[in-house]
Amino acid sequence: MKNIETKNLLLRPLTMEDTADVFAYSKSKNVGPRAGWKPHETIEETAEIMKTIFVGQENIWGIEKEKQIIGSIGLIEDPHRQNDQARMLGYALSEDHWGQGLMTEAARAVLAYGFDTLDLSLISVVHYPFNLGSQRVIEKCGFLYEGTIRRAEKIYTGEIRDIKAYSISSEEFR
Ligand SMILES: CC(C)(COP(=O)(O)OP(=O)(O)OC[C@H]1O[C@@H](n2cnc3c(N)ncnc32)[C@H](O)[C@@H]1OP(=O)(O)O)[C@@H](O)C(=O)NCCC(=O)NCCS
Repeated sequence: MKNIETKNLLLRPLTMEDTADVFAYSKSKNVGPRAGWKPHETIEETAEIMKTIFVGQENIWGIEKEKQIIGSIGLIEDPHRQNDQARMLGYALSEDHWGQGLMTEAARAVLAYGFDTLDLSLISVVHYPFNLGSQRVIEKCGFLYEGTIRRAEKIYTGEIRDIKAYSISSEEFR
Protein backbone atom coordinates (compact mmCIF):
# COMPACT_ATOMS: atom_id res chain seq x y z
CA MET A 1 0.00 0.00 0.00
CA LYS A 2 1.37 3.37 -1.00
CA ASN A 3 1.61 6.59 0.98
CA ILE A 4 -0.48 9.41 -0.44
CA GLU A 5 0.73 12.99 -0.24
CA THR A 6 -1.62 15.94 -0.47
CA LYS A 7 -0.99 19.67 -0.06
CA ASN A 8 -1.28 19.59 3.74
CA LEU A 9 -1.30 15.90 4.65
CA LEU A 10 0.56 12.63 4.46
CA LEU A 11 -1.67 9.55 4.35
CA ARG A 12 0.35 6.56 5.49
CA PRO A 13 -0.13 3.15 7.14
CA LEU A 14 -0.70 3.27 10.90
CA THR A 15 1.68 1.50 13.31
CA MET A 16 1.36 0.72 17.01
CA GLU A 17 3.60 3.74 17.63
CA ASP A 18 0.66 5.93 16.60
CA THR A 19 -1.52 4.60 19.42
CA ALA A 20 -1.20 7.70 21.66
CA ASP A 21 -2.13 10.04 18.79
CA VAL A 22 -5.14 7.90 17.83
CA PHE A 23 -6.28 7.71 21.46
CA ALA A 24 -6.00 11.52 21.77
CA TYR A 25 -8.79 12.08 19.23
CA SER A 26 -10.70 8.83 19.70
CA LYS A 27 -11.50 9.54 23.35
CA SER A 28 -13.62 12.54 22.39
CA LYS A 29 -17.38 12.22 22.65
CA ASN A 30 -17.66 14.32 19.49
CA VAL A 31 -15.77 12.01 17.13
CA GLY A 32 -16.68 8.30 17.38
CA PRO A 33 -20.43 8.63 18.01
CA ARG A 34 -20.84 10.66 14.80
CA ALA A 35 -19.47 7.61 12.96
CA GLY A 36 -21.26 5.05 15.15
CA TRP A 37 -18.39 3.97 17.41
CA LYS A 38 -17.88 4.33 21.13
CA PRO A 39 -15.34 6.88 22.35
CA HIS A 40 -12.22 5.05 23.54
CA GLU A 41 -11.97 4.99 27.32
CA THR A 42 -8.34 3.92 27.74
CA ILE A 43 -5.20 3.81 25.64
CA GLU A 44 -5.25 0.02 26.03
CA GLU A 45 -8.63 -0.03 24.27
CA THR A 46 -7.14 2.06 21.45
CA ALA A 47 -4.18 -0.36 21.22
CA GLU A 48 -6.58 -3.31 20.86
CA ILE A 49 -8.57 -1.53 18.15
CA MET A 50 -5.34 -0.55 16.36
CA LYS A 51 -4.32 -4.22 16.30
CA THR A 52 -7.64 -5.51 15.01
CA ILE A 53 -8.80 -2.75 12.67
CA PHE A 54 -5.95 -0.46 11.60
CA VAL A 55 -2.42 -1.84 11.68
CA GLY A 56 -1.40 -3.99 8.74
CA GLN A 57 -4.71 -3.44 6.92
CA GLU A 58 -4.65 -2.69 3.22
CA ASN A 59 -6.12 0.66 2.19
CA ILE A 60 -6.48 2.14 5.67
CA TRP A 61 -4.32 5.21 6.19
CA GLY A 62 -3.46 7.37 9.16
CA ILE A 63 -3.78 11.07 8.40
CA GLU A 64 -0.51 12.76 9.38
CA LYS A 65 -0.05 16.51 9.75
CA GLU A 66 3.12 18.01 11.16
CA LYS A 67 4.37 14.58 12.30
CA GLN A 68 1.18 13.85 14.25
CA ILE A 69 -1.62 11.43 13.39
CA ILE A 70 -4.82 13.48 13.44
CA GLY A 71 -7.26 11.03 11.89
CA SER A 72 -7.77 8.00 9.71
CA ILE A 73 -9.34 7.24 6.36
CA GLY A 74 -9.92 4.00 4.53
CA LEU A 75 -11.54 2.11 1.72
CA ILE A 76 -13.21 -0.86 3.36
CA GLU A 77 -15.56 -3.61 2.26
CA ASP A 78 -19.04 -2.33 1.46
CA PRO A 79 -21.54 -4.35 3.49
CA HIS A 80 -24.32 -3.41 1.06
CA ARG A 81 -22.66 -4.61 -2.15
CA GLN A 82 -21.45 -7.94 -3.49
CA ASN A 83 -18.92 -6.43 -5.84
CA ASP A 84 -15.13 -6.93 -5.70
CA GLN A 85 -14.60 -3.65 -7.48
CA ALA A 86 -16.60 -1.61 -4.98
CA ARG A 87 -15.32 -0.22 -1.68
CA MET A 88 -16.78 2.01 1.00
CA LEU A 89 -15.05 5.16 2.21
CA GLY A 90 -14.83 5.82 5.95
CA TYR A 91 -13.02 8.54 7.91
CA ALA A 92 -12.62 10.37 11.21
CA LEU A 93 -10.62 13.44 12.18
CA SER A 94 -9.49 14.98 15.45
CA GLU A 95 -11.93 17.75 16.32
CA ASP A 96 -9.01 20.19 16.78
CA HIS A 97 -8.65 20.12 13.01
CA TRP A 98 -12.27 20.29 11.84
CA GLY A 99 -13.49 22.93 9.44
CA GLN A 100 -10.22 23.49 7.56
CA GLY A 101 -11.05 21.41 4.51
CA LEU A 102 -8.65 18.65 5.58
CA MET A 103 -10.99 15.66 5.30
CA THR A 104 -12.22 16.80 1.90
CA GLU A 105 -8.56 17.02 0.82
CA ALA A 106 -7.84 13.52 2.18
CA ALA A 107 -11.02 12.01 0.75
CA ARG A 108 -10.40 13.41 -2.75
CA ALA A 109 -6.90 11.92 -2.72
CA VAL A 110 -8.20 8.52 -1.55
CA LEU A 111 -10.88 8.55 -4.27
CA ALA A 112 -8.18 9.21 -6.87
CA TYR A 113 -6.11 6.35 -5.42
CA GLY A 114 -9.13 4.03 -5.40
CA PHE A 115 -9.98 4.66 -9.02
CA ASP A 116 -6.50 5.16 -10.53
CA THR A 117 -4.38 2.71 -8.51
CA LEU A 118 -6.87 0.11 -7.23
CA ASP A 119 -8.93 0.33 -10.43
CA LEU A 120 -12.21 0.32 -8.49
CA SER A 121 -15.44 0.77 -10.37
CA LEU A 122 -17.45 2.35 -7.53
CA ILE A 123 -16.84 3.95 -4.13
CA SER A 124 -19.69 4.34 -1.67
CA VAL A 125 -20.04 6.27 1.57
CA VAL A 126 -22.73 6.64 4.22
CA HIS A 127 -23.47 9.07 7.04
CA TYR A 128 -26.09 9.50 9.73
CA PRO A 129 -28.66 12.16 8.84
CA PHE A 130 -27.55 14.48 11.67
CA ASN A 131 -23.89 14.44 10.58
CA LEU A 132 -23.95 17.52 8.39
CA GLY A 133 -20.17 17.97 8.41
CA SER A 134 -19.70 14.54 6.86
CA GLN A 135 -22.54 15.23 4.43
CA ARG A 136 -20.67 18.32 3.19
CA VAL A 137 -17.42 16.37 2.75
CA ILE A 138 -19.36 13.84 0.68
CA GLU A 139 -21.04 16.52 -1.43
CA LYS A 140 -17.77 18.39 -2.00
CA CYS A 141 -16.18 15.13 -3.24
CA GLY A 142 -18.89 14.75 -5.89
CA PHE A 143 -20.73 11.68 -4.56
CA LEU A 144 -24.30 11.13 -5.77
CA TYR A 145 -27.03 10.62 -3.19
CA GLU A 146 -28.69 7.21 -3.56
CA GLY A 147 -31.24 7.39 -0.77
CA THR A 148 -31.82 6.83 2.91
CA ILE A 149 -31.72 3.31 4.29
CA ARG A 150 -34.12 3.55 7.18
CA ARG A 151 -33.42 1.92 10.53
CA ALA A 152 -30.29 0.42 8.99
CA GLU A 153 -27.64 0.30 11.69
CA LYS A 154 -27.52 -0.64 15.33
CA ILE A 155 -24.79 1.36 17.08
CA TYR A 156 -22.89 0.59 20.30
CA THR A 157 -25.61 2.14 22.48
CA GLY A 158 -28.21 -0.21 20.99
CA GLU A 159 -29.85 2.70 19.16
CA ILE A 160 -30.96 2.01 15.58
CA ARG A 161 -30.12 4.72 13.08
CA ASP A 162 -31.03 5.64 9.51
CA ILE A 163 -28.13 6.04 7.09
CA LYS A 164 -27.91 8.25 4.03
CA ALA A 165 -26.15 6.40 1.21
CA TYR A 166 -24.04 7.83 -1.63
CA SER A 167 -21.71 6.54 -4.30
CA ILE A 168 -19.48 7.68 -7.12
CA SER A 169 -18.45 5.58 -10.12
CA SER A 170 -15.06 5.70 -11.83
CA GLU A 171 -16.69 7.37 -14.86
CA GLU A 172 -18.34 10.05 -12.72
CA PHE A 173 -15.08 10.68 -10.86
CA ARG A 174 -13.22 11.22 -14.12
C1 LIG B 1 -16.95 14.73 9.33
C2 LIG B 1 -15.50 15.18 9.46
C3 LIG B 1 -14.58 14.11 8.93
C4 LIG B 1 -15.31 16.46 8.64
O1 LIG B 1 -13.94 16.79 8.59
P1 LIG B 1 -13.46 18.27 8.22
O2 LIG B 1 -12.00 18.23 7.93
O3 LIG B 1 -13.95 19.22 9.23
O4 LIG B 1 -14.25 18.48 6.87
P2 LIG B 1 -14.07 19.68 5.83
O5 LIG B 1 -13.50 20.87 6.54
O6 LIG B 1 -13.33 19.15 4.67
O7 LIG B 1 -15.58 19.96 5.40
C5 LIG B 1 -16.58 20.11 6.39
C6 LIG B 1 -17.75 20.85 5.80
O8 LIG B 1 -18.90 20.64 6.62
C7 LIG B 1 -19.41 21.88 7.04
N1 LIG B 1 -20.00 21.66 8.37
C8 LIG B 1 -19.39 21.24 9.48
N2 LIG B 1 -20.29 21.13 10.48
C9 LIG B 1 -21.49 21.47 9.96
C10 LIG B 1 -22.80 21.58 10.49
N3 LIG B 1 -23.06 21.26 11.75
N4 LIG B 1 -23.79 21.98 9.66
C11 LIG B 1 -23.54 22.27 8.36
N5 LIG B 1 -22.32 22.18 7.81
C12 LIG B 1 -21.30 21.79 8.61
C13 LIG B 1 -18.22 22.82 7.04
O9 LIG B 1 -18.61 24.17 6.99
C14 LIG B 1 -17.53 22.34 5.75
O10 LIG B 1 -18.24 22.77 4.60
P3 LIG B 1 -17.76 24.03 3.70
O11 LIG B 1 -16.38 23.71 3.23
O12 LIG B 1 -18.77 24.08 2.62
O13 LIG B 1 -17.78 25.22 4.62
C15 LIG B 1 -15.14 15.47 10.93
O14 LIG B 1 -16.06 16.39 11.45
C16 LIG B 1 -15.15 14.23 11.80
O15 LIG B 1 -14.17 13.50 11.90
N6 LIG B 1 -16.29 13.96 12.47
C17 LIG B 1 -16.38 12.82 13.40
C18 LIG B 1 -16.30 11.47 12.72
C19 LIG B 1 -17.24 11.38 11.53
O16 LIG B 1 -18.25 12.04 11.49
N7 LIG B 1 -16.86 10.56 10.56
C20 LIG B 1 -17.64 10.38 9.38
C21 LIG B 1 -18.67 9.32 9.58
S1 LIG B 1 -19.74 9.20 8.15
